[in-house]
Amino acid sequence: MPKVTFIERNGAKRECEAPVGLSLLEVAHRNKIDLEGACEGSLACSTCHVVVEPDWYDLLPDATEDEEDMLDLAFGLTRTSRLGCQIIITKELDGLTVRLPAGTRNMQKA
Ligand code: FES
Repeated sequence: MPKVTFIERNGAKRECEAPVGLSLLEVAHRNKIDLEGACEGSLACSTCHVVVEPDWYDLLPDATEDEEDMLDLAFGLTRTSRLGCQIIITKELDGLTVRLPAGTRNMQKA
């Protein structure tokens, strides 16, 4: 079974089994990774934002326009940001590594 690695906000790496066909968000939830996913994958939030390691980013299918639009609202957007609910696990993604973004959007101004 493919495995994916989440790098948590404190830098800890968590390797998780990732069944083909599940979304990265579902894999995160099964493994109690702190990735919110408020809209459960319906592209109506950006709380499932992950930062894909650059080596892996190019291997992912391109984001749809709808995903790009939601990503624009994500806090801490980077060049390799994606929405976790839109990444579907395939055999080719065995070893995929993503980082949880440093912060999530909240109402407090820094
Ligand atoms: S869970 Fe809301 S866009 Fe991914």
